[in-house]
Amino acid sequence: MAPETDLMAKIVSLCKRRGFVFQSSEIYGGLNSCYDYGPLGVELKRNVKDAWWNSMVTGREDVVGLDSAILQHPAVWKASGHLDTFSDPLIDCKQCKSRFRADHLQEGAYGEVRDGDDGRPRCPKCDGELTDARQFNLMFKTFMGPVEDAANTVYMRPETAQGIFTNFVNVANSARMKPPFGIAQMGKSFRNEITPGNFVFRTREFEQMEMEYFVPPDESEKWFEYWVEERFEWYVRNGVRRSKLRQRPHAQDELAHYSTGCIDVEYEFPFGWSELEGIANRTDFDLKQHTEHSGKDLSFFDEVEKSRYVPHVIEPAAGCDRTAMTFLVDAYDEEERHNEKTGKTETRTVLRFHPRIAPITVAVFPLVKKEGMPDRARAIVQELAGAGLRTFYDQKGAIGRRYRRQDEVGTPYCLTVDGQTLEDGTVTLRDRDSMEQQRVAGAEVAGFVQAKMSDWRRE
Ligand code: GAP
Repeated sequence: MAPETDLMAKIVSLCKRRGFVFQSSEIYGGLNSCYDYGPLGVELKRNVKDAWWNSMVTGREDVVGLDSAILQHPAVWKASGHLDTFSDPLIDCKQCKSRFRADHLQEGAYGEVRDGDDGRPRCPKCDGELTDARQFNLMFKTFMGPVEDAANTVYMRPETAQGIFTNFVNVANSARMKPPFGIAQMGKSFRNEITPGNFVFRTREFEQMEMEYFVPPDESEKWFEYWVEERFEWYVRNGVRRSKLRQRPHAQDELAHYSTGCIDVEYEFPFGWSELEGIANRTDFDLKQHTEHSGKDLSFFDEVEKSRYVPHVIEPAAGCDRTAMTFLVDAYDEEERHNEKTGKTETRTVLRFHPRIAPITVAVFPLVKKEGMPDRARAIVQELAGAGLRTFYDQKGAIGRRYRRQDEVGTPYCLTVDGQTLEDGTVTLRDRDSMEQQRVAGAEVAGFVQAKMSDWRRE
């Protein structure tokens, strides 16, 4: 196995074994590209969302939140352009029935493509005859109510952004916001992707974290640059190695139909550099489109300047699943260590998550299952949970093995209650990265851990 394939395989296997991510409907053979998040996976995703929300909404005066419906009036998707242009060119093999994206086929993404005697490309899988390319809309359709006809067709939203545009006036008026200001939203989006893959990197059901930042037209360039930097640094602040991140401006022919400029934040995954998040200058496209299609005025009147204008929009659009996967990939490490007791070299698997992102912050162990240590450890669990720290209690097995199990899921701190705890109230606190242990007064442990969390830096 190539090292990069090997690394993805190890991460996928760890995710299943330790309860981060499972194949959806696994007992029925699974459903292609659909995944379920297990106990540690939901905590990881929750931390990703909290870190995003805290930085984008709670920690700012100029951004407010929204939670709009997944099902929206079909006219929304006509106005946004999704009904007419949100499609990929598709080619089918008449023989083996495989389906390919025409542009990916040309790029050789499915393997070498041979031209037949008629000069037309042949199927890279079976050498069969291929159909002409035809446009395939990526939106999932369903029906509202019992009658399944065109009049009742609705779409599962392919992005969270449109719910923000259609609520622009509602939010600006009710929250008394004036440009520059943003509306943030996270939630499920659905795309009938032709080639999903690379685990949760590209799926058909996924969660987005998007913010539309409405600005006076002449300030759009300034805010575009601001949000590119801000979003890039967010990944670094949350523990992703800077050397694995880059900014990639879109070429003119890559830009979405609504955009005059877009820069992707990319990560170097085991399968190559790929998009993590896009920051786009959407101009006034969406508000103007919705004004035209709905007949409702979505411009803004500046009371101070006594002028009316349609705000331009800067949009940082990220994927929650893709971010969680990036944190997992970036955190994964294998370390060779010499075991003094056995004299052997052992491999320690460790997820070096930022403590803010780790599913468990402190694992609490009684050294042995007697002498009152479990009761003392459980009381500490309650205290730490009360201080807002995510904890996990474990009294099974040798202490070394308990440490290793927590290293493998990225728990930054392990706390052990031992004989000395019962005498002087101190506990042992072990650091995941350095593996160093130190004694800390039990009553001070929560504050001590919180201070360590804010000082944490990736080596
Ligand atoms: N509103 C703009 C928009 O939706 P996008 O680049 O299509 O832009 C934004 O999507 C982000 O959503 C992507 O950078 C990616 O992180 C995530 N995303 C998009 N499609 C995805 C898919 N099929 N599976 C997982 N995440 C996806």
